[in-house]
Amino acid sequence: MDTFLAIASKRDTRKYADRSIPDEVVRRILDAGRLAGSASNRQRWRFLLIGSSEVRARVAEAVYEPDNVRGAQLVVAIQSRPSLDSGRCVQNMMLAAWNDGVVSCPNGIADADKLRDVLHLTEEEPVAIIVTFGYPAKIRDPMSRTPEEWSARADRKPLDELVERI
Ligand SMILES: Cc1cc2nc3c(=O)[nH]c(=O)nc-3n(C[C@H](O)[C@H](O)[C@H](O)COP(=O)(O)O)c2cc1C
Repeated sequence: MDTFLAIASKRDTRKYADRSIPDEVVRRILDAGRLAGSASNRQRWRFLLIGSSEVRARVAEAVYEPDNVRGAQLVVAIQSRPSLDSGRCVQNMMLAAWNDGVVSCPNGIADADKLRDVLHLTEEEPVAIIVTFGYPAKIRDPMSRTPEEWSARADRKPLDELVERI
């Protein structure tokens, strides 16, 4: 997929189909995160894949929208300080996923203490965000519109409000 089409058509999606994501797609998603640039190339992140259903149930209780985690096919906790670096890493993962038809949503942490406890992390090992992935419950074809059409339909402030020439 064209990069700008992927950016313009990507929406954070919370309802996932009951279809597993092939291992090679999962690997590509994680590799896209690994490839993100970071300040001084420090790469201060780890990607915790929430596998067991028991852990997943407890992780769900630590985010704002538990059903996002409960219904996802892939749940990745980004262990990192929230920063530009972790943001780049997560956006890379979500765009690589969308390129393979996999939708996603970032999930903020509602109960950091509970999450640390479930994942056996110390206070020096914060989780920046939990990203949920899956094939969409409702198919959305990025090719059905041009990037410009997707851009015009996006629920975003107009560019004129954001850009200032100085
Ligand atoms: C840092 C961050 C935290 C977010 N936390 C949540 C969340 O806890 N639950 C949720 O459903 N969506 C969450 N979102 C998704 C936002 O609601 C979403 O990016 C925004 O509404 C735009 O959605 P759209 O791309 O579908 O237009 C989060 C997004 C970001 C960047």
